[in-house]
Amino acid sequence: MEKISAAITAVGGYVPEYRLTNTELEKMVDTNDEWIKTRTGIEERRILKEPGLGSSDMAVEAVKVLLQKKNMHPNEIECLICATVTPDMTFPATANIICDKLGASQSFGYDIEAACSGFLYALTTGAALIESGRYKKVVVVGVDKMSSIIDYSDRATCIIFGDGAGAVLLEPTTDGTGIKDSLLRSDGSGRQYLHMKAGGSVKPPSIETVMAKEHFVYQEGQTVFKFAVKGMADVSYELMQRNNLTADDIAWLVPHQANLRIIDATANRMNLPKEKVMINIQKYGNTTAGTLPLCLWEWESKLKKGDNLVLAAFGGGFTWGATWVKWSY
Ligand code: UT7
Repeated sequence: MEKISAAITAVGGYVPEYRLTNTELEKMVDTNDEWIKTRTGIEERRILKEPGLGSSDMAVEAVKVLLQKKNMHPNEIECLICATVTPDMTFPATANIICDKLGASQSFGYDIEAACSGFLYALTTGAALIESGRYKKVVVVGVDKMSSIIDYSDRATCIIFGDGAGAVLLEPTTDGTGIKDSLLRSDGSGRQYLHMKAGGSVKPPSIETVMAKEHFVYQEGQTVFKFAVKGMADVSYELMQRNNLTADDIAWLVPHQANLRIIDATANRMNLPKEKVMINIQKYGNTTAGTLPLCLWEWESKLKKGDNLVLAAFGGGFTWGATWVKWSY
């Protein structure tokens, strides 16, 4: 029997309209445009401002884009996996809410939480559902409304993050393209450097936790930076090695957009020139689980069937990984 692989057959994306620029941040915290640009590469980020809207609303817009491209009814979706650290609610899963809002009544869905590596974890899991032969149409979403957990008086974090969503459709193929390999890692001992202090079962929300601002992202930037540079570059290199891929074989590096310096370090380790690296951090900042599918969405028209893509990420957990995709259309 021919081996079934999971092909990405459509991509959708959505970013909110509101642009939070570096100049505007200068009025909110002690920072400046020059510092932000040279240290991170970010010029602006998108923010979902409308009250009452959450991650699911951005995800719905992203999925609608891909359904339209495929002329597909929401009822054709068999499974929807949503990667996010900013679910609409603690429960039920945001995937369920997305399916409801889309009218995807024949689908089951669940969330995966692996912070900035969430999309890679979800993509690998979704691919396995397709490869098993049991499912033919799986949607994988990466979405975060980071503005809902950012303290806009903390200059160490508020300059980095933004809101956005991306989604891909996975379908079976036997033509040799699709998701070829994945190397995923996690190390929970890294949680001390990047986490949210309260709101979980260890420290449930209380007046005290709110007053202490413990429902925001806490990050020790320098330490995370060091782990990220090593983790993302090492795993990408290892993925190339074990699949005998050289820099010439790779058409595109699709890196998590956390910091331009981390992206550069990964590209250097893989020996890839800048022209082969997808970079949109200057426009959107770090949208956590949204960065990778948002890159695919923006670059979709430049991709050709058979192109080798390496997707790479590092984030809270710590979680990190790299995935080799042979583009299918
Ligand atoms: O995606 C999830 C994983 N997260 C990441 O990958 C993020 C990794 N970390 C980073 O990207 C960087 O560490 C940051 C962008 C967060 C910070 O950049 P950095 O180059 O590591 O800066 P730093 O924390 O070492 O601070 C350098 C200096 C300090 O001043 P002194 O002590 O040298 O006088 C900071 O107080 O820059 C100061 N600083 C700022 N200045 C202006 C810190 N934040 C700011 C700011 N504006 N926003």
